[in-house]
Amino acid sequence: MNKSSVLVATLVTAFLIASRTILMAQQPAPAAPPPNAADAAPVPYVLSMGDMMNTLVQPRHAKLGLAGHGENWPLAAYALVEIRQVFAGIKKAQPRFRGLPVAELVDAALGQPMNAVEAAIKQQDPKKFAVAYDQLTQGCNACHQAVDHPFVVIKVPDASAFPNQDFRARP
Ligand code: HEC
Repeated sequence: MNKSSVLVATLVTAFLIASRTILMAQQPAPAAPPPNAADAAPVPYVLSMGDMMNTLVQPRHAKLGLAGHGENWPLAAYALVEIRQVFAGIKKAQPRFRGLPVAELVDAALGQPMNAVEAAIKQQDPKKFAVAYDQLTQGCNACHQAVDHPFVVIKVPDASAFPNQDFRARP
C-alpha cells in the first residue's frame, strides 16, 4: 500500500466511524426495561362486578334462603338487611355495567321481591317466604339475562355452603 492509499483508507474508516456515531445519536434512546412487577408501587385492588357478585351477593342470597328455610326469622331479617346493603354499595361502586344503569336494573329486578321477603319475615310465614324468596331468585336471573349473562343461573339453595353457621331457629 502506498502513502495515498493508506490516507484514503484512513479517511474512509474515519468517515464510517463518524457517520455511524451520528446515526446512533439520531436513534431514540432504548426504552427503559419494564419494571419488575415485584418492585411496582402497590395499587389497591378494585372489585369487579363479578367479584362483588361472587363474594358479596351470592353468599348473602344463600344465607337469606337458609335462614328463612330454617324459620329463623331474626336471622332472616338480618340477612335481608345485609343483602340490601350489599346492593346499595354495588350501585355506588359500579353505577354502570357495560353502559347499563345498575341501580335501575337492581331496583327493577329485586325491589318488589325484597319487599315481599320482608313482609313474609315480619309475618313469620314460611310459605310466603318460600314464594317471595323464589321471586327474588328469579329477579337475580332476570338481571343476568338483561346484562347478557344468561348462563349465570341462581337457584334456591338445596344445602348450606356454611358448615360453621347454624341457620335453624333458636329455641
Ligand atoms: C345489575 C343486575 C344484577 C342483579 C340484580 C344481580 N346480578 Fe349477579 N351479576 C350481574 C352481572 C353484570 C354479572 C357479571 C359480572 C361480570 O362478569 O363481571 C353477575 C354475575 C353474577 C354471578 C357470577 C359471579 C361468579 O364469579 O361466579 C353470581 C354468582 C351472581 N351474579 C349472583 C347474583 C345473585 C345471587 C343475585 C340476586 C340476589 C344477583 N346476582 C343479582 C348483575 C346482576
